[in-house]
Amino acid sequence: MAGKLLIKSGRVVDPANDLDKKCDVLIIDGKIAEVGDLGPVVEETVEEVIDARGKLVTPGLIDIHVHFREPGDEEEETIASGSMAAVAAGFTSVVCMPNTNPVIENETDVEYVHRKGRQARKTHVYVMGAITKRLEGVELAEMGLMAEAGAVGFTDDGRGVQDPAVMRRALKYAAMFDVVVAQHCQDDGFADDGVMNSGYYSTILGLPGIDGLAEEAMLWRDIQLLKRIQLERARYHVQHISTAAAVELIRTAKKESLPITCEVAPHHLLLTDEFCAEYDTNYKVNPPLRGQRDIEALKQAISEGVVDALATDHAPHLQSEKELEFLAAPFGIASLECALGLYVKALIEPGILDWPGLIRLMAEKPARIIGVDKGTLSKGKQADVTIIDAEAEYKIDVNKFRSKSRNCPYHDWTVKGKVEKTIVGGEIRFQAPESVRSSG
Ligand code: DOR
Ligand code: ZN
Repeated sequence: MAGKLLIKSGRVVDPANDLDKKCDVLIIDGKIAEVGDLGPVVEETVEEVIDARGKLVTPGLIDIHVHFREPGDEEEETIASGSMAAVAAGFTSVVCMPNTNPVIENETDVEYVHRKGRQARKTHVYVMGAITKRLEGVELAEMGLMAEAGAVGFTDDGRGVQDPAVMRRALKYAAMFDVVVAQHCQDDGFADDGVMNSGYYSTILGLPGIDGLAEEAMLWRDIQLLKRIQLERARYHVQHISTAAAVELIRTAKKESLPITCEVAPHHLLLTDEFCAEYDTNYKVNPPLRGQRDIEALKQAISEGVVDALATDHAPHLQSEKELEFLAAPFGIASLECALGLYVKALIEPGILDWPGLIRLMAEKPARIIGVDKGTLSKGKQADVTIIDAEAEYKIDVNKFRSKSRNCPYHDWTVKGKVEKTIVGGEIRFQAPESVRSSG
């Protein structure tokens, strides 16, 4: 974008540059031109000034795990509706999962998602391609062509890759293109068609459970594969980790310097399987909600730096489908639009992270996982910026979501941390409406 935009006197938090101080950010022609105390002379030369006093100014947030349902299930979400939700939530980049209908499994599919993202003109839309054709776990998808088309990772998310030989091939092949392989760790044998966490609540509810072992067994297996592959550019990312034992496996693998990263989703920090006790399908998610011990282990891992990214796993579904009985309803929680507030509640309010720590896990490190040159406000970078009112408190109202879906268990929760403005490539793509902006 042509022109000059000055963001004045905000608290600029840019963990990649160890920066946390009150200053200005100057954007020229869509790029970060200067960060510092720029003074009135600069102000006179710019087209637009944003007064950011009392606000946080951070690198644009990046969500590396969303489901935008296009192609195939546009009534649940489209790339356009999801993109609108994303910028309203402060995300300047998102990564779409490939479990659409048809599956994103070749270069044309990847280009299709990119084109729809560009047309939406809201957030940067990236995509991971499938590891295997039709997510069947048997034959590798066109990973090379998808990488050339710009896929930022590969995953069969929604399912784990069951066959170790297929997974080993995928890790080796992806390494040739320096693209990350992301795994939904779930061994189907242990998961056993379960619909919630296996434990006390699944027993009293009479529902089949998914044992934590399902996650841990596949994760353990993949770590053994990683140890044996030893390819310089092999990279493995664990999606939505949910159990204390999974945390322990990742902690150990990192100590051994294996090329492993992981993400956590908000529901695994805020909700336990006890919430399923009323058979409310808004709490049906995969991996399932676990126990308090698991939550504590995840939080501990976050405080120690074992977790690399906070993602949402935004998984929109139709109300008519979520109204089915617990056994039949689809897995998934739509949380993109309230993610920041949820993370503030789970991590900042209890003192597990400070703001620089949170932004590191919501911008800097996610960018590194998917290998894009983003996640910081360094001079010369594309100007993706999020302006946040850290103190503003508000009630989550699913009826106000830009997302097409409402399957969100946080309706009526009060959270802190509101997105004021989202700037993508130097353009203001979202501004909070005046009326709600001042609400305290
Ligand atoms: O809860 C989930 N929903 N987990 C997944 O792995 C898939 C996702 C979806 O696509 O709805
Ligand atoms: Zn997912």
